[in-house]
Amino acid sequence: MTQPVVHGGQVHQIAKALGRSVDSFIDFSASINPLGPPASVLSAMQQALPACGHYPDPSAEELRMRLAKEHGISSDSIVLGNGSSELIRILPLALSLRHGYVAGPTFMEYEASLHIAGARCTYVLATSAEKYAPPLKQLSLLVDAIRHGSQKALRRNVKSHTAVFFCNPNSPTGRVVSARSLRMLYRKIEEAGFWMVVDEAFIDFCPSHSLIKEIPNARRLLILRSFTKFYGMPGIRLGYLVGAPETVATIRRLLPPWSVSHFAQEAGAVALDDVKYRLRSVKFMQQERQRFMTRLHGVSGLRIIPASANFVMVELPSKCVTANLVARLTRQGILVRDCQTFSGMTQPALRLAIRYPRDNNRVIHALKEALRDS
Ligand SMILES: Cc1ncc(COP(=O)(O)O)c(C=O)c1O
Repeated sequence: MTQPVVHGGQVHQIAKALGRSVDSFIDFSASINPLGPPASVLSAMQQALPACGHYPDPSAEELRMRLAKEHGISSDSIVLGNGSSELIRILPLALSLRHGYVAGPTFMEYEASLHIAGARCTYVLATSAEKYAPPLKQLSLLVDAIRHGSQKALRRNVKSHTAVFFCNPNSPTGRVVSARSLRMLYRKIEEAGFWMVVDEAFIDFCPSHSLIKEIPNARRLLILRSFTKFYGMPGIRLGYLVGAPETVATIRRLLPPWSVSHFAQEAGAVALDDVKYRLRSVKFMQQERQRFMTRLHGVSGLRIIPASANFVMVELPSKCVTANLVARLTRQGILVRDCQTFSGMTQPALRLAIRYPRDNNRVIHALKEALRDS
């Protein structure tokens, strides 16, 4: 049986275990936009309350039309889910995958979903030595090797039952690759007859890197998006997948009916229309990320990994016992994500969500003290 995946954002459970209030913690362990949820979304949800006496539209047609307009694609290329994690969970089953190559270290749900579907999971890992630069070259060589038959055993029966999973920007490392580089890798993957799944859960913080515009001409490309991170609404549960209409139809058939509530559908449409919120969020995050990273560079013992979304991964000195550091910070009311639970992580590291400057200064101060005392 697959082990349960560890996730950040466990503030309720931790508060309960320690007999403290949720408000006594600052949560850097879940990477959620500190500006959210948008006020426009909260008021739309209140107005939508009377609708709870009816089932939601199972096809979420209005929201799909709105998303189609947003991305310049057709609405039948889009399927919505109760968070993108619901879609990740059914993907290997929907595509009848037997093998997934995952660019890691990364979000652990791809591995879990592959295993649940009885498929194999092989990591192609970014390394600490290269500051976790995404393993594009290794993936490209691997696809070439399989195509040209140097791995004959692999070649048999693979093709359409194989997918490459790539998270861009990647969590927990924070590294991003350009749309151009990813497009080149995709073309190779398509020629090999594989699928490519790109998880763009954090892409709204750096939208120029998205591959979504490729969708009409890329029948083996699937893109996952989430409203959770950028719109700061993890409790609403809304995500979507974009792909070729026939693939999307297959995926939709595996979903339970009404998995996206009426409130989530309303929230999504209103969030997309809130252009001011979007601009404010991107600008805030660009400025605060820069400031936070500069301050982190001043903490002796930390190695800062270049970041492009709303979180930063920092490597700790190799002698550091991460669990002890995390426990010390937790006692101080500061929750951080221990990265050692991600498959393929070899160095002790933490992932820190980027929050408001006052909170960010607090985590920097706490880390400085902890590393000095260790
Ligand atoms: C990279 C990545 N993708 C997808 C998800 C799932 O997000 P949600 O199900 O809230 O849309 C997460 C959540 O942590 C994530 O980190």
